[in-house]
Amino acid sequence: MAERIAEEKINQIRQSVDIVEIISEYVQLKKQGRNYFGLCPFHGENSPSFSVSTDKQIFHCFGCGAGGNVFSFLMELEGISFLEAAVKLAEKANVDLQVNFSASGKGKSVSPEVQSMLDAHELLRKFYHHLLVNTKDGQHALEYLLNRGFTRESIDKFQIGYSLNSWDFVYKFLTKRDFSPEIIEKAGLIIKRERDGTYFDRFRDRIMFPIFDRNGNCIAFSGRSLGADEPKYLNSPETVIFNKSKILYNFHLAKPSIRKLQQAVLFEGFADVIAADKSGVENGIATMGTSLTEEHITLIRQNTESITICFDSDKAGIEAAFRAGNMLIDVGCSVKVAMMSDGLDPDEYIKKNGPEKFRNEVIGASHTWMAFKFLYFRRGKNLQLEGDRLAYIETILKEISKLTKAVEKDHYLRQLASEFSISLDALQQQLKQIFFTEKRKSNGQPPPINKTSVRVKQDKKLKPAHYTAERRLLAHMLRNRDTAYRVQDLLKGNTFNIDEHQAIITYLIGFYEEHMKPDSSAFLTYIQDENLRRIVADIEMMSINEELSNQELTDYIKQVLNYQKLLKIKEKEVEQKEAERQSDFSKAAAIGNEIIQLRKSL
Ligand code: GTP
Ligand code: MN
Repeated sequence: MAERIAEEKINQIRQSVDIVEIISEYVQLKKQGRNYFGLCPFHGENSPSFSVSTDKQIFHCFGCGAGGNVFSFLMELEGISFLEAAVKLAEKANVDLQVNFSASGKGKSVSPEVQSMLDAHELLRKFYHHLLVNTKDGQHALEYLLNRGFTRESIDKFQIGYSLNSWDFVYKFLTKRDFSPEIIEKAGLIIKRERDGTYFDRFRDRIMFPIFDRNGNCIAFSGRSLGADEPKYLNSPETVIFNKSKILYNFHLAKPSIRKLQQAVLFEGFADVIAADKSGVENGIATMGTSLTEEHITLIRQNTESITICFDSDKAGIEAAFRAGNMLIDVGCSVKVAMMSDGLDPDEYIKKNGPEKFRNEVIGASHTWMAFKFLYFRRGKNLQLEGDRLAYIETILKEISKLTKAVEKDHYLRQLASEFSISLDALQQQLKQIFFTEKRKSNGQPPPINKTSVRVKQDKKLKPAHYTAERRLLAHMLRNRDTAYRVQDLLKGNTFNIDEHQAIITYLIGFYEEHMKPDSSAFLTYIQDENLRRIVADIEMMSINEELSNQELTDYIKQVLNYQKLLKIKEKEVEQKEAERQSDFSKAAAIGNEIIQLRKSL
């Protein structure tokens, strides 16, 4: 593994990629003036505070403070090292890095332990698949799958496999190839017996569904039992490489289609994703049998804001769709719900009715979120009964009152009116009443805020003068080498008051020793500390006058130095009080003089 890449190579990569293009693969960006804006991929938000500058080749989020250049973007988003980010970008830019990477050949620079876990998964994935499709041992499993309607193409595409009915096949298979038992146990592939410390295989006699991360690395398995064995699906445990709340099944294969169609279809089960894919719905994903998390949603929203939920149309599935839909609506996604007749699940539906009907009559005919709620609140009610009927109308009116678009409100009111033969007037009256009751209820209370946006409210408090002065000076220093040296001179050996600001100056002067011209993106690579990088990106995005007049410059410097003097004065005042307390009046008077001198110099 190469430990370093030559600086010229890094520069070459940076100059050959465009940050806007790279970030666009993850975030939908819209041009606004000189910069691009979008929803920040590092935190949940409804209105875009994430900006990318083409001129400077940097990004910054005003919401959560994330910021950096194209390298740090990939590092933070994908959780990879600088080296890995460089390799990825070099590939895109067609820059030959001429570095030799060990193992997977993908240029991973993960720890040896993690690499070993990934290698073990990769090896097993291939072997499980081989067992299923080529061997007598796997024949019954293959027949089971084909009987269920899985095609050979799907089995290959999803790399489905079979684990032998053996207690120690995996153990022997991997240890013979020099994998350490401790590491494969940590990877969840084998289990340690309490009583004697020996190991046995986790997955035995199961259909194996490999689980991939977004880069296509196999990081876990889910094994379905062939018979009535419990549990029906056995998952790998949580490990350093597998975190259920972050992983969506099939995400790596579905991503191009999700981006192209600007639509993702969320299923409950693997079988559904695979059946849908076979039917031409290639933008399907599923959670690992858990409920949807904020992390899942963030991942989806990096690619699209429109999600079709296609869960089982039984009671549990409808409840789950209601919960997932609300979470998505809360963060501003556009949600549709696809439903199937007779409480079927998508896989069963496709088997019974074929791909075309699934595409047209289920996915193509999915309900708007409001229309789904019409159905959702109707369940368990007998609308022939007056009481149920009135309660239902009231519930729906409450939902309609939450809509923001007048056209939508009108549309659903009319729908309600015609269905129950009520006059539109009466419904509008009641809607008004609901609106005022809700308003009164929330009076004196803050308006409801989305959970996700609470965390990111930044303190927009007014900053002290010296803080602002330092930031403005830095902004100019970052843009102009001469200004940087002038500020150094004017400070006369003093430093900035905010430690981070001073650290940035130190880096910047170091940078200018080697580079004759400012370069925002190159400078960000030069800074080692992530926090400082964020601050620099923030300052880079400040709008300042191109020209810095002498007057402005001296004013800022004065504010920086004055703060230090003010601190000094405070210090002296304490000393003076102490001297007075000790009745050392001559000392107190001397300190008093110093204070006066300091004040004068302000
Ligand atoms: P088939 O029965 O093979 O058609 O699968 P399905 O996708 O229809 O399964 P189901 O609707 O019962 O469950 C949906 C998803 O929940 C599955 O894909 C699994 O991720 C998860 N799941 C189901 N049963 C279990 C279980 O016993 N244990 C765990 N951990 N997850 C399960
Ligand atoms: Mn099923």
